[in-house]
Amino acid sequence: MSTIIDNIGLLVTPEAELANAAVLIDDGYIAWVGAAASAPAADDRIDAANGCVIPGFVDSHSHIVFAGDRADEFEARMAGRSYTAGGIRRTVALTRAATDEQLLANATRLIAEMRMQGTTTVEIKSGYGLTVDDESRSLALASTLTSETTYLGAHVVPVEYADDVAGYVDLVTGRMLEACAPHARWIDVFCEDGAFDVDQARAILTVGIARGLGARMHSGQLGESGGVRLAVELGAASVDHCTFLSDADVDALAAGTTVATLLPGVEFSTRQPYPDARLLIDAGVTVALACDCNPGSSYTTSMSFCMAVAVRDMGMTPAEALRAATAGGAAALRRDDVGEIAVGKRADLVILDAPSYVHLAYRPGVPLVGRVLSGNVADVRAMAPGAA
Ligand code: NIG
Ligand code: FE
Repeated sequence: MSTIIDNIGLLVTPEAELANAAVLIDDGYIAWVGAAASAPAADDRIDAANGCVIPGFVDSHSHIVFAGDRADEFEARMAGRSYTAGGIRRTVALTRAATDEQLLANATRLIAEMRMQGTTTVEIKSGYGLTVDDESRSLALASTLTSETTYLGAHVVPVEYADDVAGYVDLVTGRMLEACAPHARWIDVFCEDGAFDVDQARAILTVGIARGLGARMHSGQLGESGGVRLAVELGAASVDHCTFLSDADVDALAAGTTVATLLPGVEFSTRQPYPDARLLIDAGVTVALACDCNPGSSYTTSMSFCMAVAVRDMGMTPAEALRAATAGGAAALRRDDVGEIAVGKRADLVILDAPSYVHLAYRPGVPLVGRVLSGNVADVRAMAPGAA
């Protein structure tokens, strides 16, 4: 089954932005890209109505298996209170008390929100269970929604281990890892004051890598730590937040293969300074943008909101922000089949109700996503919940 999308006003490809373009999709993959005037014949046709066509967003960082919300904390922060990692434990208590059905319904609702806003690939972390059973069920549920699942048993130390942090690290690297690894592609650690230190993060990631998982890390959210350099040293696919970086961190990122994933929703909703994307890009670091959807620090599913903030407050051009939200996210997940409109890639495409992707930042908060295609699915509104 082939489909031609034609009448594309502006098509964003890795090499160039093409006016008056068309894209041929064959069996869920991009088979041809070029000028509308020379488009090949196809079984079906989608008229882009002169809109801009961009790759589907790759949201490489989310925590959507949870129960409840923490709107009260957001409200207090807006009144001047500061964010601490401790709020995570409130969501842990609610998540442990929830049924599988409740957790899956909430995550499915959030995935649907993401899709409607143009996200076609999503990563999902555990991290609100923090027992062997609650972490493994979180990942089992997440794996019904995406193949990009991340074991984050090392999110914070749960209350019952407050006096035995070493015992919790043993659990995370032992029985919990064994129960979670079958459902996970990645392992992540929150390496920050109030969570895990560099030595603990090294121990946890090293064991996870030996178990066959790819490494990722949260670091530099609340202050500088050695976490960023550790992530680069261990060959992590991505280190996420990167709000507080030393010169040595920037040099390490520039010399290594680890993507710096920036999460502007966090700074927006915690009133912290935004990360300096310009500095990272100018240093030669690969940058991704992601939502970090979670009930504490960033309860958004909107990649275009993150792009708008990145353009407004982080020194990115609209083209850089779009690339970070698509190809950057793909690099952060070490995926070469998504994130770009090019022959051989999966047909994950967004048709905008706008003449240019610049409008995503220029018209913040406006629903400009007209139609979302994902692989063989010609309109994600028709997609079954677990088919990502
Ligand atoms: O990525 N930084 C750690 N974890 C989440 C916050 C989770 C929460 O506050 O519930 C984050 O921002
Ligand atoms: Fe996070």
